[in-house]
Amino acid sequence: MIDDLKQLNESALNKLKELNSIDEILNLKIEYLGKKGHLTSVLRNMSKVSKEMRPEIGKVANEVKKSVEASIDAAVETIKDADKNKSLSEKLIDVTLPGRRGQLGRLHPITAVIEEIKDTFQRFGFEIEEGPEIETDYYNFEALNIPKDHPARDMQDTFYISKDQVLRTHTSPVQIRTFEKQDPPVKIIAPGRVYRCDSDVTHSPMFHQVEGFLVDTDVTFGDLKGILVAFIHQMFGDKIGVRFRPSYFPFTEPSAEVDMQCVICMGKGCRVCSKTGWLEILGCGMINPALFEYVKYDTEKYTGFAFGMGVERIAMLKYQINDIRLLFENNMRFLRQF
Ligand code: FA5
Ligand code: MG
Repeated sequence: MIDDLKQLNESALNKLKELNSIDEILNLKIEYLGKKGHLTSVLRNMSKVSKEMRPEIGKVANEVKKSVEASIDAAVETIKDADKNKSLSEKLIDVTLPGRRGQLGRLHPITAVIEEIKDTFQRFGFEIEEGPEIETDYYNFEALNIPKDHPARDMQDTFYISKDQVLRTHTSPVQIRTFEKQDPPVKIIAPGRVYRCDSDVTHSPMFHQVEGFLVDTDVTFGDLKGILVAFIHQMFGDKIGVRFRPSYFPFTEPSAEVDMQCVICMGKGCRVCSKTGWLEILGCGMINPALFEYVKYDTEKYTGFAFGMGVERIAMLKYQINDIRLLFENNMRFLRQF
């Protein structure tokens, strides 16, 4: 039996030399040392051995088991080490290479311009309000002195949601909503999205306006002009040409529109300014006392001015963008420039 055991040891070690995968080696372990393995079957003959010999055979059997186990464990370790070295050398990391730059997020030019407009007017002492984008006919038109059959309704092509609900065509309804809940003095700007059925190089069906309004005692057109010129110079520097053009809005009287010199062609005339050298950026005027009647402000005591500016137009001039639609295409190559 001792010979059988020694032979078993030898054959296990010989076979082990041939193997080079962990799976094969573990199978070999089962074959020799498992419950139904070769070692067990040799030891099954123990009953035939004399009592005196048994301790000696037990000792040899133990040694064989330990020796086979140790060789198997060593072989498994060797393979694991080799695998590790191989994957390390294949996936070499060159720690001297420059790192990859993460993608930086940034503000959309429209958001950046709105933030700058808000900052500027906050420095002038204005507070910020907001109003709903789905507006009632009453706030969008009626209370702004634009009754149902008034021709001024055609000045803005309106998206109707129902007979008396619209997508607001301008931010002016925020004037009425604010006057209803606050007594003068009020000094507010109200940025937000507005909608009109309109599309070309300077018109977009969804665009942004910033409404501004100030109501107090003794407010004059001079105050309006002063604030707007200060604002434009703040945004564009004080060399830029600005002009006030008489205009008409039912909710202001007198009314004006403000044009800025086209920075894209420096006033020479291009497709953005329709060859005029100027681009309209806002409408404004002294608030029509008819509005104050709706909200029960004392028209003897208070006067006010209001303006509504087009954010995209200002962004186009600021960043020299020659088509408003570029602002809404979400083309990353365009947006990364800002
Ligand atoms: C108005 O919307 C008035 N509510 C402005 C106002 C407010 C006047 C308070 C008096 C007092 P207007 O329709 O002109 O006015 O639009 C104002 C500005 O929005 C324009 O000067 C222009 O810069 C911008 N704008 C108008 N339509 C579009 C459009 N489709 N796409 C982009 N910008 C536009
Ligand atoms: Mg206009």
